[in-house]
Order: sequence, then structure tokens, then C-alpha cells
Amino acid sequence: MILITGGAGYIGSHVALALLEKGKDVIIFDSLELGHIEIIDILKKYGNLKFVQGNLKNIDDIRGVFLVNKIESVVHFAAYSQVGESVKNPQKYYYNNVYGTLNLLNAMLEFNVNKIVFSSTAATYGEPDYVPIDEKHSQKPINAYGNSKLIVERIMDDYDKAYDLRSVRLRYFNVAGADSKARIGEWHEPETHLIPNILKADSKKSFKMFGDDYETPDGTCVRDYINVEDLAQAHIMALEYLNNGGRTDYFNLGTGMGDSVKEVFKACEETLERKIPVEICPRRAGDPAKLIADNKKAKEILNWQPKNNLLYSIKTANEWEKKLVRIKSGIIL
Ligand code: UFG
Repeated sequence: MILITGGAGYIGSHVALALLEKGKDVIIFDSLELGHIEIIDILKKYGNLKFVQGNLKNIDDIRGVFLVNKIESVVHFAAYSQVGESVKNPQKYYYNNVYGTLNLLNAMLEFNVNKIVFSSTAATYGEPDYVPIDEKHSQKPINAYGNSKLIVERIMDDYDKAYDLRSVRLRYFNVAGADSKARIGEWHEPETHLIPNILKADSKKSFKMFGDDYETPDGTCVRDYINVEDLAQAHIMALEYLNNGGRTDYFNLGTGMGDSVKEVFKACEETLERKIPVEICPRRAGDPAKLIADNKKAKEILNWQPKNNLLYSIKTANEWEKKLVRIKSGIIL
């Protein structure tokens, strides 16, 4: 069985669905603090899925999973991921993201499970010295969220050297879109990410554009939007890489192309075929002007290739938004 921590969340659920559709047996471990039971119920329709509610901060919760299931490898998503919150409350981030991961890794050692794919982030690079950012770029996070992920990356290096626990650390850029059939998608409460916030905007609540005075061609921040299904495929390839004896490594996951907030906004208006109310607001603290991935390493070593463009991500995100409204009002599952 493949254990997915945080599998009731946005990216974890897409990886779970991709594995289930490949006929793999999957066990999701999730506290449901941020994940959603509705997503688990949907996923159960698509294959052999077991769900355990538990918290990585309680070592016995996760030991119990290894005790009663034959786990062959782990994909680890469970974490807090809001940059702003991490600056205000670093304790919460280190306790959950670092201590929680240590409990997971120690349980893996105890039960002789030696392969893990870890959800890392472009936030481990901090303010970039150059773009596109390759994996050799220095890692100097500028917030506790990025630090917590970098600390885990370092712990994984040491666990590899000392205990042969092999890991692939995947450093995501901006993840976007939803399942192609709108079965699952992004569901954060509150939502902080760009595309869902543009799609949710209406006459009552306009979209807030954070800053239009950056040193970029149109003054708004540039990001590398990687489609969530392409991202899920990269996790499957990372698992195959580890199964084939691949050594501990780390990879950027992005498209290698950048789009500005204004470009994304325009593409959303085109998709919705209507004007979206927008309000220009001051810059959001801690936003770098430009983040673009150099993704050559993932292409060469994992044989991964992103296929879906930004417009496709926006379209699928929009189909999911419509479904989410109905799920939230209890109309459908
Ligand atoms: N933005 C707005 N309005 C919004 C939301 C976002 O203008 O309502 C802007 C932001 O200021 C930024 C861009 O849209 O310029 C993208 O913002 P997101 O919040 O969607 O994504 P981030 O680039 O801030 O964050 C993402 C991940 C983090 C990760 C980070 C790495 O969500 O987990 O990339 O830098 F840490």
C-alpha cells in the first residue's frame, strides 16, 4: 500500500486519485483539520482507498497505521502552508511541519519503510538571485513556512546518509487547476490563492490585486503556474524512480514559463466570458516579484513533462468551483 499523508487536501487528493486510477492500493492519513471528508468520499469511488483520521503530532496515530498495514512507500503532504500565517505563528509551523514529519520518518524507520516523496516548495529558495531558478540556487527562505520545509529537506538528507531512508523532495512552484473531470479540486478555507480568488469574485466581493508597481513588464508579480494533474504525475514518476533504486534527490516542478497576475486575471475573464470586479490593493508582504522554475532536472531524471497550460488550469479550476458551490450547499457529492 502507498501511504499518503494529507491526502484529503488539494495536491494530496490529486495524487491519490492518480494512484487509484493506476490500480494502486492507497491509504490516506489526514487530520481533517484542513482536508475534507467529502474529498475522501469522492476518492473512494475510484479504487481501493482506506482512510485513517489522525495527526502526525501524535506518534501513536501514525505508528498505528504502519502497525496494521503493509506500507511500501510514503507520499507526504500533511503540513500547514500559509506563508503569512507562518510569519505570525512560527511555533505552529515548526511543531506541525517539522515535528510532525519527524514522527512520520521515525515510524518509517521503525517499520522498515525506506522510500518517501516529500512535498517541498519554491519558498525554500527565498527571494531569488536569478530566474529561472534551478536546483543549485541557494536556499534562503524568508518565512517560517519555507524554513520548515527546508529543515525537513535537510533532515531527509541526514536520514538518507545514516539510515538509507531514500527521499525525493519536490519543490513546487504555483500549483493551479483541478481534476479534468471536476471530481476534485482546490478547497481552502479561507482561500488565499490567486486563481480561485479571481474565480470567486463577484459584485459583492471584488478580486483584490496585491500590487501593480513591481519591477515586471506590467507591474504585477510573475509566477510559474503548474497544473495539478501534471504535478500529480510527477509524484507517480518520483515513486517509480525510488522503486527502481533511484537515490535521494530534489527537483523543481514548474513549467519554466511565467505569467503575471494581470495576465492570469485576463485569462480568467476570458474563461468566464464576463468582467470580474477588481480592486488594486497595496503589495502583500513577502511576495517576490518573479518566480519561475528551471525544470530541466525533473525532465531529465524523472522523465517528467508538464502537458497542461495555464488556460486549461483556469478552465478546470472554474468547473471545480461550480461543483464546490454545490458540494458546500449539500446538493451533491
Ligand atoms: N494574489 C493577488 N490576490 C489574491 C491572491 C494572490 O493579487 O487574492 C497575487 C499574489 O500577491 C502573488 C500571486 O497572486 O503575486 C500569487 O499568489 P498565490 O497566493 O496564489 O501564490 P504564492 O506565489 O504566494 O504562493 C505559492 C504557494 C506557497 C508557496 C509559494 C512559493 O501557494 O505555498 O508559492 O513562493 F510558498
